[in-house]
Amino acid sequence: MAHTPQAKYRKDYQSPSHTISDLDLTFDLHDKATLVTAVSQVKQQLDSTTLNLEGDNVELKSISVNGEEWSDYTIHPASLEIANLPSEFELVIVTLIDPEANSALEGLYKSGGAFCTQCEAEGFRRITYYMDRPDVLAKFTTTVIADKAQYPFLLSNGNRVDEGEVEGGRHWVKWQDPHPKPAYLFALVAGDFDVLRDKYTTKSGRDVALEIFVDKGNLDRASHAMVSLINSMKWDEERFDLEYDLDIYMIVAVDFFNMGAMENKGLNIFNSKFVLANNQTATDADYLGIEAVIGHEYFHNWTGNRVTCRDWFQLSLKEGLTVFRDQEFSSDLGSRAVNRIGNVRTIRGPQFAEDASPMSHPIRPEKVIEMNNFYTLTVYEKGSEVIRMMHTLLGEVGFQKGMKLYFERHDGTAATCEDFVAAMEQASGVDLTQFRLWYSQSGTPTLRVESDYDAENKTYSLTVEQSTEATHEQKEKQALHIPFDIELYSASGEPITLQCNGEKVHNVLDVKQDKQIFVFENVTEQPIPSLLREFSAPVKLEYDYSDDELIFLMVNARNEFARWDASQMLLGKYIRTNIDNIQQGKGVELPESVIDAFRGVLLNEELEPAFISEVLSLPNHNEVSGWFKQVDVDAIATVLKEMKVTLAQNLNDELSATYHSLKQDEYTIEHAAIGKRSLRNTCLAFLANNENGDALVVEQYNSSNNMTDTIAAMSAANAAQLPCRETLMQDYSDKWKHDGLVMDKWFALQGMNPASNALDNIKVSMEHSAFSLKNPNRTRNLIGSFLNFNAVQFHAKSGEGYQFAGEILRELNSSNPQVASRLIDPLLKYRRYDQQRQDLIKVELEKLKAMDNLAKDLFEKVTKALEA
Ligand code: TRP
Ligand code: ZN
Repeated sequence: MAHTPQAKYRKDYQSPSHTISDLDLTFDLHDKATLVTAVSQVKQQLDSTTLNLEGDNVELKSISVNGEEWSDYTIHPASLEIANLPSEFELVIVTLIDPEANSALEGLYKSGGAFCTQCEAEGFRRITYYMDRPDVLAKFTTTVIADKAQYPFLLSNGNRVDEGEVEGGRHWVKWQDPHPKPAYLFALVAGDFDVLRDKYTTKSGRDVALEIFVDKGNLDRASHAMVSLINSMKWDEERFDLEYDLDIYMIVAVDFFNMGAMENKGLNIFNSKFVLANNQTATDADYLGIEAVIGHEYFHNWTGNRVTCRDWFQLSLKEGLTVFRDQEFSSDLGSRAVNRIGNVRTIRGPQFAEDASPMSHPIRPEKVIEMNNFYTLTVYEKGSEVIRMMHTLLGEVGFQKGMKLYFERHDGTAATCEDFVAAMEQASGVDLTQFRLWYSQSGTPTLRVESDYDAENKTYSLTVEQSTEATHEQKEKQALHIPFDIELYSASGEPITLQCNGEKVHNVLDVKQDKQIFVFENVTEQPIPSLLREFSAPVKLEYDYSDDELIFLMVNARNEFARWDASQMLLGKYIRTNIDNIQQGKGVELPESVIDAFRGVLLNEELEPAFISEVLSLPNHNEVSGWFKQVDVDAIATVLKEMKVTLAQNLNDELSATYHSLKQDEYTIEHAAIGKRSLRNTCLAFLANNENGDALVVEQYNSSNNMTDTIAAMSAANAAQLPCRETLMQDYSDKWKHDGLVMDKWFALQGMNPASNALDNIKVSMEHSAFSLKNPNRTRNLIGSFLNFNAVQFHAKSGEGYQFAGEILRELNSSNPQVASRLIDPLLKYRRYDQQRQDLIKVELEKLKAMDNLAKDLFEKVTKALEA
């Protein structure tokens, strides 16, 4: 590396030296040379006459101050230092940038034929020299000039206030955003699109124009996004009493995008994956993903935009809260239990794994080299769990009071996580002193619980011990405030009232010490405890349940989540036992009683099909890997496969009957219909392993009238390595080779192919006309799924998988470091594998470390991983 990148620390925060009240931008758009004129109204705040502006990949053309050319400045590698300034002035900076050469997709770039921007977190500095930090809020006016025929639509934030034509076939549009905002919320789009238009009247009677811009020819794939947007606007009014605040809301779908979507004020820019859908191209999961992401970006308008972050260490202030809000939105519109199950799988799988990796960090990080590396499962998903715990402690009413106070205090400003917790605490009267530790302590706590029933005194006690293992960056851990939701059942399945010291107590226990004993009175029989209901805290629960107790809870627990959780614990017990068995050269076993318990769920007509489908879904390889210090890749894969086959064989008749009974003639995306397809396709995934599996899968593929069933057939063929796999894959590719987004599902199946020649096939797939390493979606689906969801082939002892990953990472390091940095994560966990694999992975990490143009993104992760 030429320069060793420097870390920034949360504790070093300083308020800005200057404020900028207004920013007037003019873009003269050209593919290779776009001229940007930035006129700022600046005021000195501290006693410095020097102004430092961030800049990256911009060519400075001129600077003037109060109308005079200014020569008192120094250009540094990442900034511009302007000296001897007056206390108040107008600053004009002209820069030249090259959007076409921008393959990093940060700043102003070209996606297909259109210009677009991505400024979060620190991309605005690739457009002009500016105070590119979230606590500098200015009113933006933006004029966009471009060729009229090629770019008929010129968009930016706020309201369109003027337009005109200029010579040479060019035209311009001027936009004004009345809400002061930080630079990361700026957006510009220029292109030719089809537009889906609608309108929404807010509850106070304001009319809002809704516009969704998609590539020409894609109008028939935009309606679900529009419905989701309208549902989001309505839901935020009803549940949070929050209304939209501009006259227009625009969403643009682009094919080249590093993340899911971006909440730019009034002009969201979306990865087309989260906009485009019809039943021929999108699966049910895609439809639900669109609803969630449209909601997420819309909800940012209040939690993120109206109140933004003081500095990037506070990212979870907007992201954790907005994820919580989008999860609630999806749960209110669909099945709460199924949504909760999905969210908990994400925490227990990838988030726990991140907590245990060299990249572990608290939801509010203390130290950052590259901010883009901290848009993580921890900040987003664990951040949402932390908000959810506050919701559990305060209740909906207290929580909403807290939100009101938060907006009263901080609307229009840049706030901190502490500001949020203080508002929650003061509005509700609930003491959150110890709770705040969740913001600064990293790692996953373990709750060890033991129970004791005293028949003579009719008391039942739970001894709860909490501990958090040291993490990579933080050795000392303290006791957290953990809301621990429990229920006790009598043998007949009745809940037992919880009483302590003669009084009825709440189901949510406050665990605050290293070790605590809760004694419940008037317990007239040995109870069965349901623990950590609703996953009331993001912790690992250890309690020595018997099979019978878990089977009891699968049937009798009063809420669906607890029933599902019992089923997963039961599976978990046998996954562990069977891994032991395999390691000792024995076979995989599953007792009749366990199989019967799953049979009971499958045949229970009172249960929602979507829920049954979740009960029947085993934890995946990654989640199971997280249970072990040393991961035995092959043993885990064998056990998961064998247990699936055992269940398939023993439940063949019931699975088959369910499969056939759930056939639907019409495709609709109502939640009940989605649930039926989900269970039916789960049945198919089991049945594919049985006799006639191949014929059944082919039959489904051929008769399918929607993408969900098509992909389910292909996935089943892929996972069970059926003879029909080749034919189905070929047929699909012939049909969809022109459409990258639809081909992504095919690329993902190539990446996850369990066959021993998977890597060869992946290399061939990279030559497919729809593939490009420049497109993040294609790369994530083909390469990302190989690294993340094909444990056996990726970790092949030959080391070929690792070498392949290394080559791709070295290439992406120069073209798109953000994508490279997400892709590298599985390699960072090398210490969990055997010595031979560790050594092979380390070679690739060392090679990266030795590169002289290694991007900050990869530098931060590689150096952390290689540290002792
Ligand atoms: N704020 C975006 C969200 O809602 C995240 C995001 C989109 C992003 N694009 C990005 C973050 C690029 C970093 C870089 O979640
Ligand atoms: Zn977000």
